[in-house]
Amino acid sequence: MVTDKLPKAVIYKNGILSFLDQRQLPLKVVYEEQKTAEQIYDSIKQLKVRGAPAIGIAGAYGLVVAVKKYINEPIDKFIVELKNVGDYLVSSRPTAVNLSWAVNRIIEIFKNIGRYGAELIENGSGILTHCNAGALAVSELGTALAPIYTALDMGKTFKVYADETRPLLQGARLTSYELQASGADVTLICDNMAAYAMSRGLINMVIVGCDRVAANGDTANKIGTMNVAILANYFKIPFYVACPSSTFDNMTLTGSDIVIEQRNPEEVTHLAGVQTAPDNVKVLNPAFDVTPNEMITGFITEYGIIKPPYIINLENQLHRGRKNHV
Ligand code: MRU
Repeated sequence: MVTDKLPKAVIYKNGILSFLDQRQLPLKVVYEEQKTAEQIYDSIKQLKVRGAPAIGIAGAYGLVVAVKKYINEPIDKFIVELKNVGDYLVSSRPTAVNLSWAVNRIIEIFKNIGRYGAELIENGSGILTHCNAGALAVSELGTALAPIYTALDMGKTFKVYADETRPLLQGARLTSYELQASGADVTLICDNMAAYAMSRGLINMVIVGCDRVAANGDTANKIGTMNVAILANYFKIPFYVACPSSTFDNMTLTGSDIVIEQRNPEEVTHLAGVQTAPDNVKVLNPAFDVTPNEMITGFITEYGIIKPPYIINLENQLHRGRKNHV
């Protein structure tokens, strides 16, 4: 099975929580034990563990580890600490909605995302993905990469193109790493090569993950995702977003209500610790952008593919799915 070969982003075993330090990939595979709320907060903040669902899993286990020291306190004090630590951990990455989501339902969900998404993959096709929404971002199969891994297990043959994903190169460091480990036919491209690849007929489909979907289907994902969506629309290439139902946030009405995390300018002015821009240059470094719903061909979820009009279909299909799967 492809899944046996994939790296684990988060390991919780015998009460010990470890995160794979994804900043060191692909050169080093280093697992770091997590002991305190502060350490877990920093690990999430610094992207040692990243990707919305993996952040959710890390946060859920992190909460368990971080509140252990309050276990003998009276229950009302324990609950206050639980909430405080929970709020603190959630504040480490404000965009992804998954942080508080139930951990053990996740595995089955990603298998279903893989199953539904794999049906869309045709033999001989080329698939473009952006950022990392695979095993390293989730666990097991991932979201955007789940259909790819499932299709590989089904014996389909196709090519995957991974955007390098500036500024932190999640595509280069992580997606190409885990796809290569799985045996997929993966080709790395710079972000600004997507139009070229599409214009040459190399791409037949785009699949990306996401951090939050608003009630109208507007979708926040890694910065640069909107560029890919605009290109895909121009070249009439289907643009799919793969995500679990926990990523849909009907309390957020449209994309403009989604809080976008702004990150350290150094991520843009430096590459692997080497300065690549003048001292004190002004920098804009949003971690995410919002793809307008009209550019999205469909959402690949554990309940099936959801198509437009999203304002109606998201609510209906998610509601029906949740009712049938409790
Ligand atoms: O900043 P990151 O690396 O956590 O951003 C990750 C992404 O944007 C992923 O595409 C998203 O979280 C989906 S992961 C299944």
